[in-house]
Amino acid sequence: MIRSFSFSDLDSILQIEQQSFPKSPYDVPTFVHLRWLYPDTFWVYVEGERGGEAPQILGYIIFSRDGHIISIAVDPQYRRRGVGKELLEEAIKTLRLERVWAEVRKSNLGAQTFYLKLGFQITGLVPNYYGSEDALIVQRTSPAP
Ligand SMILES: CC(C)(COP(=O)(O)OP(=O)(O)OC[C@H]1O[C@@H](n2cnc3c(N)ncnc32)[C@H](O)[C@@H]1OP(=O)(O)O)[C@@H](O)C(=O)NCCC(=O)NCCS
Repeated sequence: MIRSFSFSDLDSILQIEQQSFPKSPYDVPTFVHLRWLYPDTFWVYVEGERGGEAPQILGYIIFSRDGHIISIAVDPQYRRRGVGKELLEEAIKTLRLERVWAEVRKSNLGAQTFYLKLGFQITGLVPNYYGSEDALIVQRTSPAP
């Protein structure tokens, strides 16, 4: 199930964040700020919330209403099960986004493969976007085949 982020999800999100972006994880003030900036488009993927057991946050996505993916991450234990794809496709579908784009570290081959698999193309490069590392811009302008 995908739903809006709630502050009670913060501990789980921070754990996912630290495992997903060890070089530059967002901290609590950053997530609070992002929630303020994107109150309707900061979503989490939750399992077990309706079943009575303790809900488990498997991943999250933050994006702008014009299609900029600010961040997406999935708990390493739950990767390659379609969670990232579902978060991204749900964002595109719900907001009827005709163009979506993201920055990806040049060294992040897993995320690049993920985006390319979902129909994105590499459209640019921003030198030193991450300090000493370049970012690739990935973009999708039409539904994936
Ligand atoms: C990128 C990320 C969000 C993908 O989440 P996910 O839930 O594992 O992705 P999905 O299971 O939906 O993958 C969909 C398809 O993308 C491709 N893919 C995803 N991750 C991949 C990887 N690490 N290597 C190669 N292909 C990959 C596969 O083709 C996959 O389909 P398949 O498993 O049936 O072969 C996740 O790996 C992650 O959190 N990474 C760390 C954070 C990050 O880099 N975020 C993006 C920053 S811009």
